[in-house]
Amino acid sequence: MNVGIDKLAFFVPNTFVDMTDLALARDVDPAKFHIGIGQDEMAVNPTTQDIITFATNAAAPLLSEEDKKAIDMVIVGTESSVDESKASAVVVHDLLGIQPFARSIEMKEACYSATAGLALACDHVRLNPDVKVLVIASDIAKYGLNTGGEPTQGAGSVAMVVSANPRILKLNNDNVALTQDIYDFWRPFGQAYPSVDGQFSNATYINAFAQIWEEYERRTSLSFEDFAALAFHTPYTKMGKKALMPMLEKKKPQNADELMVQFENGIVYNRRVGNLYTGSLYLSLISLLENGELAAGNRIGLFSYGSGTVAEFFSGELVEGYEQQLRKVEHQSMLDARKRLNIAEYEVMFEEKLDLNHNKTFDDPTPYSVSEILDNHRLYKK
Ligand code: HMG
Repeated sequence: MNVGIDKLAFFVPNTFVDMTDLALARDVDPAKFHIGIGQDEMAVNPTTQDIITFATNAAAPLLSEEDKKAIDMVIVGTESSVDESKASAVVVHDLLGIQPFARSIEMKEACYSATAGLALACDHVRLNPDVKVLVIASDIAKYGLNTGGEPTQGAGSVAMVVSANPRILKLNNDNVALTQDIYDFWRPFGQAYPSVDGQFSNATYINAFAQIWEEYERRTSLSFEDFAALAFHTPYTKMGKKALMPMLEKKKPQNADELMVQFENGIVYNRRVGNLYTGSLYLSLISLLENGELAAGNRIGLFSYGSGTVAEFFSGELVEGYEQQLRKVEHQSMLDARKRLNIAEYEVMFEEKLDLNHNKTFDDPTPYSVSEILDNHRLYKK
């Protein structure tokens, strides 16, 4: 039975910072951000938009009434949860009007967890072909003002409907995962921003891809030449390239140039958004499908990486007519319609926090935004 991604969309908040503005404010050569890091714009959110509102805004346009009846599991992968106990997926389930007899959970392992969610969803559908699973990756990446990580921030969400006979990407169940207990990036309880050893995290990512690729080749006997394109977890767009290029130089596949062209197609949206943490790989997949002109039957590889670390490589094959399921026009208009913040506005927005100890109402026009703080919890506008 074919199982995989039937529907796919992303959402980003409607404000951003231009990376030239940020570079000039931080007394950095703009070429370092645009070329060295590979970022042009960075998504920034007001406090009335959180991982729950991103998730619902990404998923809502995808779901038909039939989907809402068929979905029996909602999985949210995140590392920017709004609650230590209650899963964001429970709120998302309610806001989206999904039938009540469903399982709703939140998963965590840095930027990796949505990949575990996707694998769980596929296994569940293989056992229960009539049901669908909603998998959402939703995060706010924040390192702090004037920090080394600042140009690699971002915010947003990717939603995927997983089903039998998927209309976009059939997943091949060939996943190879790698777990290593490493402190390259972590965030202890109560700490607003992560602790990160930037250069070490780069090296760990590169090394994880090299190890997994060798194991994937050994297990499947496939090579780079069997792939039309590869999409990577994209904390900043240069990162995947830093992992892929040494392996292409080592393996020397005939299609190395084509893989690099497709790599660039896979980072078009990421350059304009920044790091979505759990959603970054899947935003890159959307960017690839909407800008890559790939053909049905093409095999695509996906490399997922979460600090700490768990990494995973897996593949899928594009389904005939997949283009018709994409939302290219909507995605590009959403990116184009955003407001460019100046750095003073960004810094004020960055420091704002919701105070759960004081009841307050809000008037953010964005659908599914926080409408009220009431008795120590958030209420959302549907
Ligand atoms: P940095 O020290 O600001 O930058 O840290 P750098 O000195 O390493 O320079 C970056 C690149 O810009 C270099 O290119 C420079 O040569 C180049 P590279 O050697 O990489 O090819 N450069 C220039 N290029 C053109 N013109 C110039 C110029 N100047 C320099 N004038 C770092 C960069 C990414 C480490 C930092 O921003 C950071 O710590 N970010 C956060 C951590 C991160 O994103 N790590 C990625 C791997 S870990 C991961 O992916 C997991 C994660 O998503 C979290 C999770 O799983 O939850 C982060």
